[in-house]
Amino acid sequence: MAESLLENTILIERRMEVEDALHSVIESSMNGPYSHAMGLAREILLAGGKRIRPILTLLAYDLVGGKDRSDVIDFAVATELIHTATLIHDDIYDGAKLRRGVQTLHEKHGLDHAIIGGDFLFVMGFGIGGRYDEQIVRIMADTCAAIASGELKQLQHVSDLSTTPEDYYEIVRGKTAGPFSSACECAAIIAGASESEIESMREFGMELGIAFQLVDDLLDLTGDERMGKPRGTDVHEGKMTLPIIHALTLLHGDARRKLADVLGEFHDERWDELEELLESGDSFGYCNILIHNHLDRALGHLHRFPESEVRDVLESITRQVMTRND
Ligand code: IPE
Ligand code: IPE
Ligand code: MG
Ligand code: MG
Repeated sequence: MAESLLENTILIERRMEVEDALHSVIESSMNGPYSHAMGLAREILLAGGKRIRPILTLLAYDLVGGKDRSDVIDFAVATELIHTATLIHDDIYDGAKLRRGVQTLHEKHGLDHAIIGGDFLFVMGFGIGGRYDEQIVRIMADTCAAIASGELKQLQHVSDLSTTPEDYYEIVRGKTAGPFSSACECAAIIAGASESEIESMREFGMELGIAFQLVDDLLDLTGDERMGKPRGTDVHEGKMTLPIIHALTLLHGDARRKLADVLGEFHDERWDELEELLESGDSFGYCNILIHNHLDRALGHLHRFPESEVRDVLESITRQVMTRND
């Protein structure tokens, strides 16, 4: 994220609160009976990560007038543990070699260890999040069920050139936007916010999360080593992301045939061909417009709250989703 935001005091403090709480969970687990499993999982947990979900949780709690962040910090930690669990498993389905700048668990330790490492973090996340009211636990469970369902739908569409934008949006809502949305929604519930404030937070998270995944999918085509994961994983895997769905819909004749051929037989020497085809139909431009629209809507939901320093930070995070490079 850009320097101006990184230097923001509130953000630095919230990030530190998240890191401290996460480290203390890791440390106490390393001193307990499950140190072997945590030893495995912490390699990815501590490899970096933007911590955007737990930071949003703390900021959303503050925005709606939450009085004591120690009430919400466990939930924030749970979002990061569960997110990291989904990444470990996602990297298995996606055959990814690098995550957060380090080797993925399945590459380093094998499939069996990575499945167990992911399961362990899911259970840790639910153990900590499960201390909250039933309403929160139900939202957490629904969010995880929707992630599984989104990932499954995505697998069913691998190399399916007839995938529609609606299919894509359903996948993105499940696997990425849902967790953003429920993090913000639950933070508002824990803070004791009103129904309409809770709804605004839920919608804010949803719009931000959709934009976040759209940007991620653009970065797979245009990003660099700052991502901590290699460019082109989606294309190699046959994942139908929106720029590709758009180009497949828009291009006709030879160009459409060539695109199908490039996607079907993709290798690193074909990057220029792919980029040219995507640019010829302005597929990147189309996605950028959609990203702007989602971020504008996210800002609209924030603007239902009175101006404050916390609202400014949330606005900055929202704007910087557009320009992020990791
Ligand atoms: C990666 O999430 C998975 C997506 C939803 C695109 P992040 O980009 O938040 O990954 P970390 O936690 O910073 O590594
Ligand atoms: C993110 O999807 C999925 C989850 C967080 C469950 P991607 O597969 O697009 O994310 P990256 O590119 O591996 O980070
Ligand atoms: Mg992936
Ligand atoms: Mg994936």
